[in-house]
Amino acid sequence: MTGAKARITVLVSGGGTNLQALLDAQSRGEIPHGEIVLVVSNKAGAYALTRAEKAGVPGVVVEKKKGEQKDFEDRLSALLKEYRVDMIVLAGFLAILSGDFTARWPRRILNIHPSLIPSFCGEGFYGLRVHQAALDYGVKVTGATVHYVNEIPDGGEIIAQKAVEILPGDTPEILQRRVMEQAEWILLPQATELAAKTLTERSTQQ
Ligand code: GRF
Repeated sequence: MTGAKARITVLVSGGGTNLQALLDAQSRGEIPHGEIVLVVSNKAGAYALTRAEKAGVPGVVVEKKKGEQKDFEDRLSALLKEYRVDMIVLAGFLAILSGDFTARWPRRILNIHPSLIPSFCGEGFYGLRVHQAALDYGVKVTGATVHYVNEIPDGGEIIAQKAVEILPGDTPEILQRRVMEQAEWILLPQATELAAKTLTERSTQQ
């Protein structure tokens, strides 16, 4: 913690629109209790890394080789230690983190999921598949959820949710975009500030 700010890393895998929402919110002064100090991608060439570079935030690639979960997490942990990270935000991050890893970061890892958990979440529900499932089921409302991460995929305590209407003629792509614009990009910065504030208050009380 540098002063009253939590040092935040954002883990990404792809386009980084949620990272961009965080960076923009930070530049508008909307995350006063946190500072994004590092972006980590498990995919080289992810556009999220370009967004980090443009924002002047260090971006590092930590690739996970097949069947080398512990090696991947050891390299990731060493990097987080080097940058004195207090809190982790998963923003479109598609690699699995083991229960051993998440247990070392209790209530300090956040994830954004593009549905109203407990609907359409868990193993195999990511990206467009989530919206396809909502359309297949015929729900009239979906949205996004930010939750703490534990060993159960999308299973941790919910921090915030925001609902989005499903409209006639929606395709998974149209719905994904609406959920991003109307829910994810608003919710993630708000939830990140909430969690960072809670973390800094907890640490000053100790
Ligand atoms: C989005 O659908 C988001 O809900 C999920 O990952 C997808 C890509 O996000 N978490 P981003 O554009 O890489 O932030």
